[in-house]
Amino acid sequence: MSEELEKICNNFSIPENPNEFSRTARPFTSSDHPKIYGREKELDHAKSLLGVPKSDLFIGESSSIIAKKRKLVILPIVGMGGVGKTTLAQMVYKDKNVQSYFNLKVWVCVSDQFDLERLTKEIIQCATGNECNVTNLDLLQETLKKLVKYERILLVLDDIWSTDWQRLLGPMIEASDGSAVILTTRDPEHIECTGGDMNILDFIRLEGLEENIYWDFFKVCSGLEVDSENYIQLENIGREICSRLKGFPLAAITLGGLLRKRLDEQHWINIRDSKMWELKHGEHDIMPVLQLSYQYLPSHLKKCFSFCSLYPKDHEFTSIELAKLWIMYRFIPVQESLKRMEDIALGYFHELKNSCFFHYKDNSYGIEKFVIHDLMHDVCQSITKDECYCLEDENIGKISLNIYHIYVFDMNPVAAQNLRKMFKLKKLQSLVVSPYCSFGAIKSLCHGLKSIRRLSLPSGKIKKIPENIGNLKHLQYFGHFRHTNSKFTGFILYPL
Ligand SMILES: Nc1ncnc2c1ncn2[C@@H]1O[C@H](COP(=O)(O)OP(=O)(O)OP(=O)(O)O)[C@@H](O)[C@H]1O
Ligand SMILES: [Mg+2]
Repeated sequence: MSEELEKICNNFSIPENPNEFSRTARPFTSSDHPKIYGREKELDHAKSLLGVPKSDLFIGESSSIIAKKRKLVILPIVGMGGVGKTTLAQMVYKDKNVQSYFNLKVWVCVSDQFDLERLTKEIIQCATGNECNVTNLDLLQETLKKLVKYERILLVLDDIWSTDWQRLLGPMIEASDGSAVILTTRDPEHIECTGGDMNILDFIRLEGLEENIYWDFFKVCSGLEVDSENYIQLENIGREICSRLKGFPLAAITLGGLLRKRLDEQHWINIRDSKMWELKHGEHDIMPVLQLSYQYLPSHLKKCFSFCSLYPKDHEFTSIELAKLWIMYRFIPVQESLKRMEDIALGYFHELKNSCFFHYKDNSYGIEKFVIHDLMHDVCQSITKDECYCLEDENIGKISLNIYHIYVFDMNPVAAQNLRKMFKLKKLQSLVVSPYCSFGAIKSLCHGLKSIRRLSLPSGKIKKIPENIGNLKHLQYFGHFRHTNSKFTGFILYPL
């Protein structure tokens, strides 16, 4: 095996590989770019609070009293999970007048693991469009200060889970008047602000969509066509189901995906009468809806989907990357060729995507990226919490000794010293390492985790495979993620 590994090491920087799946083989449909229903009032309200003029003709003259008077305007969008906060923030961000009013726009997803250095770097990268290799926090903040100086910036901090977000805004004091920050969060307590230079506007409290608009949306999601032969029966059941979803778009998308699989009355009745509805905790809790959709998946897709709890929240992934991980983890029936297995795995991926378990995110470098909504991620996690773990610097202490699979998201060399804790994980079988992980940490992992069977390493910053990979005597699969500027460009799988 060590010879084979040597061969792999030699190939590590070769760009082409016959196993690489052709990305042009499966075109994506237009439903990857879904229409947004309603929210016009909320959009107008947000724009007026930010001081964005109604027409871009007047920019440069008197934009708005609100924006002129204040230094840094903070606009919080608050609402329950899945109600559409990120979507509204995106509407604002992409709005034509907003685009011309702000001359610098930056979007970062904060999520539940707040890392000041990483986020500052992401802000810089988003503002410049270039990779930033600075690792010192002071230098990063200095760079950001220079970047925003005299600029009217719109910064979106999506999905905040604590009041730490304020620490990101130090360099913003140099920004020009009218600069603004949009925060999205489920919990208004995270908005609390102690800094003097900020001015927090009234929250936009987002509720579900209006009844009529929501019904139109629900019909589209569930595939309910007026000219279908049993429309009347399905409409009646559909209205009953729809009224329980409280206008939450995520609930319509997920449940609609399940209903549309079979436009027959019995299937719809079964869903309407499912016991899952009784699990509801709070009035607007949509978790039972998400769990219901998961319960209806065939077992092979359940396995593949729940495995995704390995990824960190809001992680962006490609179909081919996940397909190859599934092969590596033996979720795909063995076939005579890897190519055939890839096709099956991609078929699974598309089934899950069509059932709305994966959401289209964007297309960078011609590669389609997907995400799992974080509430759906919670569903995955609740299923595989004893098997899969996403490891970051901060949570290494919480790892259970019985874990089988780990995704090492972020691991600096200092934290890597704590890795000894991981070496005690007797059941650990596999490791997927993200491009954020340091080379030193990877080396330590290869040194200490002698019994792992599946290992996947990133390229990009890591130019070569640590030579001590030969210690891994039980390795059955080695995967290699390719990255350019931290962006995924391919995944090669080597069965050993
Ligand atoms: N007005 C809308 N019309 C159509 N689809 C919508 C609308 N609002 C949200 N969605 C869709 O609903 C899903 C959930 O929306 P979104 O991610 O914006 O919710 P959120 O409130 O940000 O949730 P979380 O608190 O988990 O971050 C997304 O797939 C989004 O595309
Ligand atoms: Mg969100």
